[in-house]
Amino acid sequence: MWLTSSSVGRKLVMSVSGLFLILFLAFHMSMNLVAIISDEAYNGVCAFLGSNWYAVAGTAVLAAGVFVHFAFAIILTNQNRKARGVQGYEVSQSQPSVELASKNMGILGAVIFCCLLAHLSHFWAHMMLPELAGNEELLLNDGATTYAATDGAGLIKYQFKQPINVIIYIIWLVALWAHLTHGMWSAMQTLGANNKTWMSRWKMISNIFATVVCFGFMAVVIYGAIA
Ligand code: HEM
Repeated sequence: MWLTSSSVGRKLVMSVSGLFLILFLAFHMSMNLVAIISDEAYNGVCAFLGSNWYAVAGTAVLAAGVFVHFAFAIILTNQNRKARGVQGYEVSQSQPSVELASKNMGILGAVIFCCLLAHLSHFWAHMMLPELAGNEELLLNDGATTYAATDGAGLIKYQFKQPINVIIYIIWLVALWAHLTHGMWSAMQTLGANNKTWMSRWKMISNIFATVVCFGFMAVVIYGAIA
């Protein structure tokens, strides 16, 4: 199929799946900010997005999006490596205009993916998974409290009271920020928004979006650590 066999098709798949994940991030960050305002409201949102059929379908679509984005990133990286050959280009000095993030999208993606697995073990495995299994009581116990699978607000406080988790999330959010500042405008360029005026606008929009999203998530981490 053209989408998988040509390099333009593969870049298109990367761009569309990336933009889909960007939409999820904006939604997920906004949802998490509710935890700062009210525990009850946040647990209400979590219940709405709990173990019902549309939430499970949403999770499946999301997992497919992450899988496609990750798999095509590996394919494109290998393809670029092969195109450059073992020796690489003769002139390997990069232009100053090529940002650090653009040269390290693969490594940033790998860091983000590993931290995502840690994140799912912190939250998803203690919320949706036990609910799906029909067990609303978490195995999590901080000595004083046992957290129910429906208590997302309590879980945020529990997870971010542990300094190691705060460190993991800081590394994750910095990597995500750098990945988004390049990835978002690069996706728009692949989709055809590549004239000079619009490229500089998309670069600005990408920087603002990445900063707002990552600061939003960070605010929840800090709130969980001090609440
Ligand atoms: C302060 C930061 C964050 C908090 C407090 C948080 C909170 C949560 C919670 C409570 C869930 C479980 C929802 C449920 O199972 O009902 C969840 C799931 C998830 N989170 Fe986060 N999240 C954060 C950051 C992120 C980031 C930065 C990403 C992506 C880069 C992300 C990706 C996901 C994904 C993919 C799921 C699974 C969604 C699903 O089950 O449909 N999260 N998060």
